[in-house]
Amino acid sequence: MSNQETLWIPGPTHVRPELLEELSVPPVGHRSKAMIEMIERIDPGLRLAFGLEENSSSEVAVGTHSATAMMEGSLGAVGARILSVVNGAFSKRWRDIANVMGKEVRTLEIDWGDAVGEELLAQELKSQGPFDAVTLVLNETSTGVLTPLAPVKRALASSPETLLLIDVVSAIAGYGIDFDDHGVDFALAGINKALALPPGITVMCASRRFLEQARKRTTTTWYLDPVRTIEGHIARKTPTTPCIPLYGALARQLEDISAGRTLASADRGRTGGKAWQARFDKHERMREQTLSWAAGHGIQPFPRRELSSPTISCLSGTGIDVGALMGGLKQDGFEIGNGYGPLKGETFRIGHMGDHTEAALEDLLKAASRRLRSAQEPFSQG
Ligand SMILES: Cc1ncc(COP(=O)(O)O)c(C=O)c1O
Repeated sequence: MSNQETLWIPGPTHVRPELLEELSVPPVGHRSKAMIEMIERIDPGLRLAFGLEENSSSEVAVGTHSATAMMEGSLGAVGARILSVVNGAFSKRWRDIANVMGKEVRTLEIDWGDAVGEELLAQELKSQGPFDAVTLVLNETSTGVLTPLAPVKRALASSPETLLLIDVVSAIAGYGIDFDDHGVDFALAGINKALALPPGITVMCASRRFLEQARKRTTTTWYLDPVRTIEGHIARKTPTTPCIPLYGALARQLEDISAGRTLASADRGRTGGKAWQARFDKHERMREQTLSWAAGHGIQPFPRRELSSPTISCLSGTGIDVGALMGGLKQDGFEIGNGYGPLKGETFRIGHMGDHTEAALEDLLKAASRRLRSAQEPFSQG
């Protein structure tokens, strides 16, 4: 491990050795008391990660599959009329899945780098609705845009029949989701981004009304039915054999975050919701740290400044040989991300998520400053 670069890509990200150790613990039987205890250790932290209110009737669960699988599963649990907000590659993926599933899909296309606003969404819902569900990616990993949820909630206020499904893959544990407060009905996330664990399982949260409506539907999927997964989780009986070692690592990570053990020494001593808030604050500071470094080098953020994500900075590569910058940083022990899809070479991305610290980010940015000198040369020599 020691000669490998540290991952600063937009996930998977660096995993603490203590969490890797959890993966080598021998598996327990998935119908055993030990497994029930493991699931019970997960729930309190997972409810905090989704920002559930104390007496919330929303339910959390874990499924053994990647996040994309639950994009499909959640769509299987709602009606046919879908409004997909598309402002990047992953929101486009959700739309594409809806199309493959034969839904009646309308796309609300937003410029990459931007986010949907209240007026536009309200107008779309009014003129094109009613819709059974809206799909939206909270933190577009491909562009580093975080879509504010308060305007989305306000826009949906006059469409009470429409469910709000959100992908929180690169936001969870890096940003306060406030699932109930924002009127979200279903949210899904892998654990390999800001939860800083290896990939392989997906966490989810469903509102009571999502579950009530979904229970009445005839499902077209058995394995990916969120109701089956959530009811199995509540009963402490996973429908199929789960990825037991990852459950153990997730339980440990959620307990560590809730106990403030992943915080820098200045923030230690905070527990529960306060420890989670301190973690979110750390990521906001890391965004500012990265954006002020970028500004110092004349590099623009790709998203509108006020939409810049706290977990992923997507920066313009104008005048920079992005491949050379990435290659140089790799030699220094840091792996950052290229632009995604059509943004390859046009942007680069730094994933300041998970258990990365501000001090470690400073080291990366210093190395990037050094490497930038040569990465900018081919352009400046003309
Ligand atoms: C925002 C977002 N949604 C969905 C996915 C897909 O996740 P997975 O590849 O784990 O299915 C990703 C992966 O990077 C992502 O960043």
